[in-house]
Amino acid sequence: MNNLGPPYDVLVIGSGAAGLTAALSLATKLKVLVLAKGSLNSGSTAWAQGGIAAVLDTGDTFENHVRDTMVAGAGLNDLETVEFVIERAPAAIDRLADLGVPFNRESDQLHLTREGGHSHRRIVHVDDATGWAVQAALLKAAEESPNITLLPHMSCIDLITGRNEARYSGSGRVWGAYALNEETGGVEAHVARATVLATGGAGRVYQFSTAPRGATGDGIAMAWRAGARVSNMEMMQFHPTCLYNLDVKNFLITEAVRGEGGHLLHPETGHRFMADYDPERMELAPRDVVARAIDDQIKRYGLDYVHLDISHMPAEFVRGHFPTIHEKLLGLGIDMTTQPIPVVPAQHYTCGGVAIGLDARTDLPGLWAAGECTESGLHGANRLASNSLLECFVFGEAAAQDILGRWDELLPVPAIREWDESRVTDSDEEVVIKQNWTEIRRFMWNYVGIVRTTKRLERAANRIRLLGNEIEDYYGQFRVTTDLIELRNLHQCAELIVRSALERHESRGLHYTLDYPATEAEARDTVLIP
Ligand code: FAD
Ligand code: SIN
Repeated sequence: MNNLGPPYDVLVIGSGAAGLTAALSLATKLKVLVLAKGSLNSGSTAWAQGGIAAVLDTGDTFENHVRDTMVAGAGLNDLETVEFVIERAPAAIDRLADLGVPFNRESDQLHLTREGGHSHRRIVHVDDATGWAVQAALLKAAEESPNITLLPHMSCIDLITGRNEARYSGSGRVWGAYALNEETGGVEAHVARATVLATGGAGRVYQFSTAPRGATGDGIAMAWRAGARVSNMEMMQFHPTCLYNLDVKNFLITEAVRGEGGHLLHPETGHRFMADYDPERMELAPRDVVARAIDDQIKRYGLDYVHLDISHMPAEFVRGHFPTIHEKLLGLGIDMTTQPIPVVPAQHYTCGGVAIGLDARTDLPGLWAAGECTESGLHGANRLASNSLLECFVFGEAAAQDILGRWDELLPVPAIREWDESRVTDSDEEVVIKQNWTEIRRFMWNYVGIVRTTKRLERAANRIRLLGNEIEDYYGQFRVTTDLIELRNLHQCAELIVRSALERHESRGLHYTLDYPATEAEARDTVLIP
């Protein structure tokens, strides 16, 4: 009955914007252990380009930002949550600046860029590599904190609940997580009075995604298996402009390129085709509209890609605003100051996730969640650009404040059973993992992508059922590896996405189905109950 690891008060799973924000606030009073799969900066946070949305300009208002968020979210957002987050944005930016994030400035003001769906310039940024600067500042602060221990290369497998207590309680209370130590191959129980899930999205369930390799929906799947509700999983965001290149997969071309004047063009005729889909907002329409327009052009004309062109702007302006992208493209033989960039849509953001309230509490006592693994009510049916880092800061902080405020009520950890490996052996058929992983990602792309039909969703559901038996069988027989953990979670998330999509009998925001093209008068969340 021995629990490994020193006695931490709180376990935070994930070292991105949400996890580290929570950890830094918790560490003012408590001992915090942060676990990360792979390296400490392997999440999406480090990859964020465009920036963070916040009302900082005197000509802008919270009401404008709220309205833009609700319009992008097709009314499925929760107004109270939207206001809660947006009103806390300026303070979040101040905290980051205090931590040393070198936001771009113009004279003595922060420079604000523009992105699709925003009626005003309100994106605070660090060139075109905002996430890298944010991740570095948060990590530095966490490394310097005497109350935070950072443990990379720990792949959490499942949450520890009442079922894992030495004296089985059957309660849904969460006491930490079992994690595979990727370096030793052993499974450790990391226990704590409070656990914060901040594991990011599930983008890698799709064949083409801008998200990093580890975005396999682990937290969503773990919370679901432990008994938490999951909502709006059908709302998968596709970013309109991912670089099309046969060698470099998954490189995002930030929406700020369109925000600063980039045009979308048919690659053969040069026609600025957004005029045919959304003549008023053109390239700055919300992402779902632009991604669908590109998808339509690609399918209608049998194209491999469309062009994103900002070469009509002065070369110095382009280089100055987009130094990272400019350099990356030059290395691939594309000079964006004189040439158009070939782009395609790719999965980008998981709007749905573990259901949480304004205090970041999940359904399960002892479990809080923040960031992309959650469905907080902020994004509704489509996330407004650059609202997600903001959500991480606000809900990371909300989780920490709620835990600190209730600390004395939280029960001490009981004795927990060790991970049982007595009935498993090393796998002799790793090929099964690769095969199933590829299969899931391919049929999710083809059947559960930008434009859906009930028939395609049912086809996907059938395949998910078949693969489920095989994966559970494999999981029951062999020792866990990170690949196996991820496959099991990807499969679980695929099932949740397809189930949710089949439950929504309308088209709204990111969920667009040819069988139900109309939008119902009343917006309703798709809530799945385990
Ligand atoms: P992440 O930053 O993804 O971190 C997840 C953490 O969980 C990682 O540390 C990971 O190792 C850990 N983890 C996962 N599974 C496990 C497990 N089983 N065990 C242990 N640890 C685990 N949003 C914006 O607002 N503005 C932008 O400009 C922007 N640009 C983007 C550009 C790209 C290319 C991408 C992919 C996303 C972008 N986004 C942007 C979205 C934004 O980056 C993410 O939503 C946000 O960073 C998510 O932060 P997070 O803390 O929730 O998760
Ligand atoms: C981008 O820079 O286009 C990404 C912004 C976001 O995902 O919010």
